[in-house]
Amino acid sequence: MESRRILVTSALPYANGSIHLGHLVEYIQTDIWVRLQKMCGHHCIYVCADDAHGTPIMLRAQEEGIEPEELIAKTQTEHEADFSEFLIGFDNFHSTHSEENRNFAEDIFKKLQHKDLINTRSVIDLFDPEQKVFLPDRFVRGTCPKCKAEDQYGDNCEACGATYSPADLINPHSALSGATPVEKENLHYFFQLGKLEEELKTWTQSNSLQPEISNKISEWFEDGLKDWDISRDAPYFGFEIPGATGKYFYVWLDAPIGYMASFKNYCERSGEDFDAYWNADSTAELYHFIGKDIAYFHTLFWPATLMGAGYRKPTNVFCHGFLMVNGKKMSKSRGTFIKARTYLNHLQPEYLRYYFAAKLGPGINDLDLNLDDFQQRVNSDVVGKLVNIASRCAGFISKKFDAKLSASFSSECEQAFAEATAANTEIKDHYEQRRYAEAIRSIMKIADQTNQLIDQYKPWEKIKDENCKEEVHQICSFGINMFRLLIGYLKPVLPELAGKAENFFNDELTWADLASGETLPEGHIINKFKPLMTRIESDKVEAMIEETKEQASAQAPVISASDPIDSEISFDDFAKLDLRVARISKAELVAGADKLLQLTLDLGEATGGLEKNVFAGIKSAYSPEELEGKLVVMVANLAARKMRFGLSEGMVLAASGDDSGLFVIHPDSGAEAGMRVK
Ligand code: MSP
Ligand code: ZN
Repeated sequence: MESRRILVTSALPYANGSIHLGHLVEYIQTDIWVRLQKMCGHHCIYVCADDAHGTPIMLRAQEEGIEPEELIAKTQTEHEADFSEFLIGFDNFHSTHSEENRNFAEDIFKKLQHKDLINTRSVIDLFDPEQKVFLPDRFVRGTCPKCKAEDQYGDNCEACGATYSPADLINPHSALSGATPVEKENLHYFFQLGKLEEELKTWTQSNSLQPEISNKISEWFEDGLKDWDISRDAPYFGFEIPGATGKYFYVWLDAPIGYMASFKNYCERSGEDFDAYWNADSTAELYHFIGKDIAYFHTLFWPATLMGAGYRKPTNVFCHGFLMVNGKKMSKSRGTFIKARTYLNHLQPEYLRYYFAAKLGPGINDLDLNLDDFQQRVNSDVVGKLVNIASRCAGFISKKFDAKLSASFSSECEQAFAEATAANTEIKDHYEQRRYAEAIRSIMKIADQTNQLIDQYKPWEKIKDENCKEEVHQICSFGINMFRLLIGYLKPVLPELAGKAENFFNDELTWADLASGETLPEGHIINKFKPLMTRIESDKVEAMIEETKEQASAQAPVISASDPIDSEISFDDFAKLDLRVARISKAELVAGADKLLQLTLDLGEATGGLEKNVFAGIKSAYSPEELEGKLVVMVANLAARKMRFGLSEGMVLAASGDDSGLFVIHPDSGAEAGMRVK
């Protein structure tokens, strides 16, 4: 078999937020594909990086009161830990805020300039007259010029998907100050995509892009390729454009260049040949796995950048759909906006890898993580069917046959093994074509057949009959061999489980081993079998949801100190609040909660001695001892909320700044528990 040279990427996650289960669809999808290629003996390299530039990252750092460099370093450490625990086997993980990336971005820009693909012109930008800055797209909000949906961002409409520039918005206003932006002349750099239209068309047509994506691209061509605005103004966190002080590359220019930068960084460490993968005449394959939301950038802008700068083009771009949880968009308040870390606090990564694989197809339709189905499917397939084969057979082999396998099976079993081996071609092809759900279906069919054969032979009964010893030895050895084959087929999806199983067989599985049709030799010794995977327990899933809900409520101040005071409520709304003075009669730590204290609040005689239990997110600022006996102000008529630790029946008022300090509000001396606060 000829060995292919393949470079694979996943989209670069933004460095201003945590990895969540939606992201993981992509990294798991890519990782399975890469592991398959490696198992087949191909030379496959998988690189990624954090996408560290842009306005949101700059603002996030400001909010936290730290430099952007500190934020992105912190985030990268967190991302890398999450990925490694989900067994995402990057060969390299880098950052777009790196010297390699700066060099490539500058060099590519100069090449584009040299080919006369860049021009500059003055455009009318929106300027915040109060803050005295040009407003980035995302900082202008207004009515969509296309569908007239209100309160949309300045770059695209969440209602109809239209993209436009902020000046096109109807009734625009600054998200920073609320002021009406004024128009001001500003110089911008543009990439003249139109000049590459023919070459781009050839590329999109000569490649087997997914049909949904091809259709989209045709629409984009019909609309005409506009010049792409690639400059942004200071203040901006990114790379300054050579020869243009105060102008920066728009994050989406240098983000995909980050694929090259990460690979270059890998080459320096591994001795791999960069040019062999990126030169225009490269024979290596290059694949980008991405979500459907960023197809435009990867099927037009990115190939155009590569063409313009004289590099090779991607072999293909693979798009996937979005993750839904329980049939709906992920939501913080429903507890379904689940972070990778929160998941890991409660559940094993391979459960999710298996479930995503079982649901993933080659298209761009969305994928649903139904939590009941998740639990049921993993328990029934992996634990009930797969691991069960080994647990039914291994004990007998160890106890009755000195842990040695037999290599002769009944003719029926011989045939089952041959058929299961023959299925390897089809299973491999399913993986290669990203039809993971089909691969899993084929594999589980083999597991079902294996269990049925074992059921027919009933080794657990026959073992009692001395005359049937050989038969038991054979069926159990058959079971172990089938288990080995199945584990091999699932190795791209369940690498850790496969690793444990390999220890058990004293053997390491490549695809060639699976295709060979060979069984383990006569007398091969297996190690003691330990349960390879346990069932998903319902309470673990519930605890994960609860923790996610708590994160949402801990961030509760929807309004932060630096937000403009501009949203009004009516007097009637205000009058509905029943604010009361309460005495903290008891304050305790909550086992397992990082941020919460449990308070017992005494509402005094005026209320007939009413007591309320409240979980308050103030542990970072107070110890229980310093609170007991103090008077506070609480929202007494807030609907009770069930939390993981119990029922919370109100809220205690506290002041907080943007990035530091938390101060519980106390009434002046003389106030008594139960008094109304107005
Ligand atoms: N930084 C850009 C990508 C630059 S690539 C040169 C970006 N980052 S992201 O963090 O928002 O998303 C990273 C990847 O995760 C994207 O491919 C995106 O489509 C994918 N997903 C983010 N949320 C997702 C879901 N809820 N579901 C499935 N995939 C999702 O875009
Ligand atoms: Zn719209």
